[in-house]
Order: sequence, then C-alpha cells, then structure tokens
Amino acid sequence: MAVALVAVATTTRSILLRDVDSRISQLLTQETGEFANFVAQGVDPDAGGRFTNTERLLDVFLQRQYSDPDEELLGLLRTGDPRPRLLRQSRDFPPGTALHQDPASVTEIFASDASSGTLTRSEGEVAWAKVPITAGPGGTDRTGRTEGAFVVAFHTDRERAVADETFRLLLAISGVALLMTTGIGWAVAGRILAPVRVVRATAAQLTEQDLTRRIPVQGRDDIAALAETFNGMLDRLERAFAVQREFVDDAGHELRTPITIVRGHLELMGDDPAEREETVRLVTEELDRMSRIVEDLLLLAKAERPDFVAPEPVQVAELTADVFVKARALGEREWVLAEVADAKALLDPQRITQAMVQLAQNAVQHTRRGERVAVGSCVRVRASGVRIELYVADSGPGVQPQDAAVIFERFRRGTARRGARATGAGLGLSIVQAIAEGHQGRAELRPTEGGGATFALVLDATAPTTEATPHTP
Ligand SMILES: Nc1ncnc2c1ncn2[C@@H]1O[C@H](COP(=O)(O)OP(=O)(O)OP(=O)(O)O)[C@@H](O)[C@H]1O
Ligand SMILES: [Mg+2]
Repeated sequence: MAVALVAVATTTRSILLRDVDSRISQLLTQETGEFANFVAQGVDPDAGGRFTNTERLLDVFLQRQYSDPDEELLGLLRTGDPRPRLLRQSRDFPPGTALHQDPASVTEIFASDASSGTLTRSEGEVAWAKVPITAGPGGTDRTGRTEGAFVVAFHTDRERAVADETFRLLLAISGVALLMTTGIGWAVAGRILAPVRVVRATAAQLTEQDLTRRIPVQGRDDIAALAETFNGMLDRLERAFAVQREFVDDAGHELRTPITIVRGHLELMGDDPAEREETVRLVTEELDRMSRIVEDLLLLAKAERPDFVAPEPVQVAELTADVFVKARALGEREWVLAEVADAKALLDPQRITQAMVQLAQNAVQHTRRGERVAVGSCVRVRASGVRIELYVADSGPGVQPQDAAVIFERFRRGTARRGARATGAGLGLSIVQAIAEGHQGRAELRPTEGGGATFALVLDATAPTTEATPHTP
C-alpha cells in the first residue's frame, strides 16, 4: 500500500508539473502573439497612423497591458553598449526577484538568438519569450539592425511550488491513511486469528500424558470446522494412546506372572535330585511360555508396519491344503478338509498359514481327542464384493455369547475353558485379526452347525477365477 500511495503521489506531481509547463508556454505564446499582432496592425493614438518609432510602439503597447501575477512584460531598446535600455515594465513586480532589476539577465535575453528559453537564476527560474523589433518598413533604422525587443517573462517558482505543495499534502494524507489501514488491519486480523491462536495454545498445552484438552467450538465458520477436526484428531489420538498404554500394562502384567513363578520355584528348590528335575521342567515350561508371549507381542507390534503382509498371487486351494497338512500335526482329532476355493487371490501365504495354525491350535485346545475339526476355504459373493473365506470349524463347546465380543482383543481369554490348558496369553486371536486386517479383511466368529465354533478369515479377493468346489478327502 505504501508503494502504491507513493507511486500515486509521484505520478500526480509529475502530471501537475507538466501542466504548469504547458500552461506557461501557452501563456508566453499568447503574449508574443498579441505583440506581433500589434506590430503589424497597431495604430498610434496620437499620430493616427502606423507606428514609426520603436520606443513609441513599445510604450503604447505596454501601457495597455495588464500582466498576470507571476508575469513580467518588458520593453527593451538598443543603446550604444550591449546592455539595452529598459523602457518600461508592465507592473510593479515584487522587488528582489524581478527580472527588470537584474540587468545582466536582461542583457543575456536581449542578446540571445533564440526567441524563447529558460533562465535559471539564483533568485528563481524564469521562462521567457522574445519578439525582436527590427528596422525596416515598420522600424525607424534604415540599416536593418535590431532596434528593440518585447520580452515576456514568467516566474515559474510559485507555480512549481503549488505542485510540490500538492505532492507533499498527498504524501501526508497517504501516511495518515497508511497508519489508519495498518491499525484497522491489525485489529481485524487479530480478531480473525484469535480462534487460531486458541487452537495453537491448546495444541501447545497437549502432552502425551494429558490429551484431554479440547478446543471450544464457536459458530459454524472455517475456524469452527478446523477446531472440530482438531478435536476429532485429539479423540483418535487419546484413544490410540489409551489402547497402547493398556497394551503395555497388560504385556507387563502377563510377563510378570511367569517371572514370579520361575522365581518361586527356584527359591524353594531343594537338594533332592528328583525335585530339582521337576523344578527345571516347570521353569523351562514357564520360560517357553514367556518367550512365546514375547514372540507374539513382537509379531503384533510388527502388524502396525506397512510391510507386515507381502501379498502375492496365490492358489487358495493349494494354500488350504497346505494349512490342512500342518494343522493335522497339532493333535489327534478327526481332521476334515471340507472344501477348497478354486481361486487365485493376492495373499501373503506365510501370514495366512500363521493365522490358520493359530485357529487350528485353538480348535485343538477346545476339543477332545477324536472330535471333528474341519478346515476349508470358499469364495463368497456378498453385497460389498467378492470375498475369500478360510475357516477352521470345530465341534467343541463353542464360544460363550458374552465372550464373543472380546476374545479378539489382546490378552482377553474366554470364561469357559473346557479342555484347554491354562497356558494361553490371549494373543492368538489378536494375531489372527491383525493378519486379516493386513489383508483388508477381518476375522469372524460364528457357530458351527451341530455345535462348536467356526473362526473364519474373510478376505478381500482380488480377481478370483472360479467358484468354490466341494471337496471330500
Ligand atoms: N475354538 C474355540 N472354541 C471355543 N473358544 C475359543 C476357541 N478359540 C478361542 N476361544 C476363546 O477365545 C479366547 C481367546 O483365544 P486366543 O487364541 O486369543 O487366546 P488363547 O488361546 O487363550 O491364548 P494364546 O492363543 O495366546 O496362546 C480363548 O481363551 C477361548 O476362551
Ligand atoms: Mg489361542
């Protein structure tokens, strides 16, 4: 704004100065034109004919003229030396700066060959124009010399000062306007940005320990939307932190139990070799359990990383058969390969196998010897798209309704544990869920027909080729 205002003021000044120049030159032309007219057509009022005397001509003309305030009209007559005789000046010009009081300048103008010009004196600048009167038909001297001259001079300083004054006034007004806009702009911007400052202050007060602060939402403008978005982000952060803290607490708790057991056994260990052997067996078992928990925790931590699953095109039928073979080694059950999906899908075979083995292990833990456990896969067309399902169905007691909602959470075990040894940490189904989510799918629980639980991996199938075909081993 300052640049624009200075530009406006400067432009205005140069326009005003150009105006002054053109007005002055117009004025000079007009005065000299009038005189030239008078020379050609003027009539001596006393003699009643054309002027025959230069002095008389200038005298009569100047008597009739009234000059403007900054203007001087001079009649000059040749004398013996270069300095002309000042015949008359039009009006009393303020002394000091007047041209007729400056014989050197008058001589310079009289002697000049040009008919107009500008004279820069210490007293001020003068624009002048001159009409020489030569001898000849209208003159008196027969030799053709310049007899005299009519000079019109204009003192430009006052006019220029007016332009400069206007310029200064404009600058002053601009300065005031600039100050005012700065003040108003400052106040308005401050008011607009005040809510942003609140957001900033709130964000600055947030710490990992205290994520409870929220920004007050006022109105329905962009700032309010920003505050809402920010609050939503805080909600998610708070939840994520809470889950993580809970997870760390649980993990610590789960790991403390085996440590306590190991320490207890070792402290109570006597010298009896049989007792020692028993203690070593128990301690080793606990340590195995502990290292299994640590491995599972590491796997779950890795599930947050983007490279957790490495999908590749896989024949689901082959994968199901592989899982079946591995599961069969987990225990003496009536293993059944129920059906296989004849389809190709983008899956990470290692992770899928890992999840399916977890499910098979759970099934083994919740069934008795000789009970039926079925492994299978199928393609399902649902409203949301085509899904590949891999499942393990057992004929055990099934999951209690109150447990169904929580068993997929970390460290959560069910209440009824028929046939299961109390060794699980409650991480198996979390791992299954994490692997399913890594494939943009999820793990589902439903009852098996005729009793028992069926756990299924429901996965997004990219380009399955054909429908599932029933298969009997
Ligand atoms: N096939 C099943 N039949 C009945 N209940 C099951 C079955 N599978 C899991 N559950 C229930 O879900 C709970 C959680 O299972 P999860 O696999 O997560 O933990 P876990 O088997 O107890 O321990 P971990 O797998 O870590 O060794 C189990 O404690 C059990 O109560
Ligand atoms: Mg398990």
